[in-house]
Amino acid sequence: MQKGHDDGTAYELSPPRHSPELTEVGRGTPMGELLRRYWHPVGLSSDAGATPKRVQALGEEMILFRDGSGRPGLVHPHCAHRGASLWYGRVEERGIRCCYHGWLFDAEGRCLEQPCEPDAGRRRDRVRQPWYPVQERYGLIFAYLGPPAKKPMLPHLSPLESLAPGEWIEADDTSIGSGGDVVVPCNWLQHFENVVDPFHVPVLHGSFSGAQFVAQMASLPQVTFEASALGVKTTQLRRLDDGTVFRRVTEAALPTLRVVANPRVGRYGEVESIGWVLPLDDTTSPAASPRRGSSGACAPASTARAGSS
Ligand code: FES
Repeated sequence: MQKGHDDGTAYELSPPRHSPELTEVGRGTPMGELLRRYWHPVGLSSDAGATPKRVQALGEEMILFRDGSGRPGLVHPHCAHRGASLWYGRVEERGIRCCYHGWLFDAEGRCLEQPCEPDAGRRRDRVRQPWYPVQERYGLIFAYLGPPAKKPMLPHLSPLESLAPGEWIEADDTSIGSGGDVVVPCNWLQHFENVVDPFHVPVLHGSFSGAQFVAQMASLPQVTFEASALGVKTTQLRRLDDGTVFRRVTEAALPTLRVVANPRVGRYGEVESIGWVLPLDDTTSPAASPRRGSSGACAPASTARAGSS
């Protein structure tokens, strides 16, 4: 049928659809189970303290704290006794105490005290507050939300391991669009796929917003895509007015790692910034990104820029 002048109106729009096997992150879903075979950063090290903090990951809510001995703990938000919120709990030397009847749980959920029961709880050993394993690295708290038998090692990432004298790791919970405590109101995959979309950079970050990064990023790059060992890598070449070539490499490493160089700092070589897109639930996603800093610069050093004439 011939296209008419009135074709293409919004009235003809199909209802929105999504691919649940790729986007839904709850326990028992295909992607939710895949993601539960990896460690995820659920907060900054500084988020684990004497005040219980609510955190969310993969559609689950949890309470993060750090006991008086310095050990971080991550537990289910509702007390194993009568379901009171441990967000109102009190952090003590040995764990977190529920505000309702005072049960005390250690960082791995073991019930240490039941003060209203005879002998502080003769059967307290039988109680375990649901918990998740955590590890601290790069200024972040990583949690493993999957089956214990499948728990992998928490990986060491080379750009954050080989620090030069005077460099340090700086972690933050801000990333592209997340703005710290402000979450991104989209599915995690929409956020993650942006890592390998270099063509939006000269438009969104170089034109509509002005030169958001550095002036060189405003020109349209020549881009090649290739499969990498862990995902997809893009190489972007920009020929600059002075005859040099600005080469930048970006990688999305499955399932949630984003390896994106900070373009503001002109350092050549290995990328200095690693980030994770953390699915909070099916519709929101923030990100965390520790990066390497240097005492010789007021801003963290950035890289993945290699030039040649
Ligand atoms: S509900 Fe937590 S101790 Fe009773």
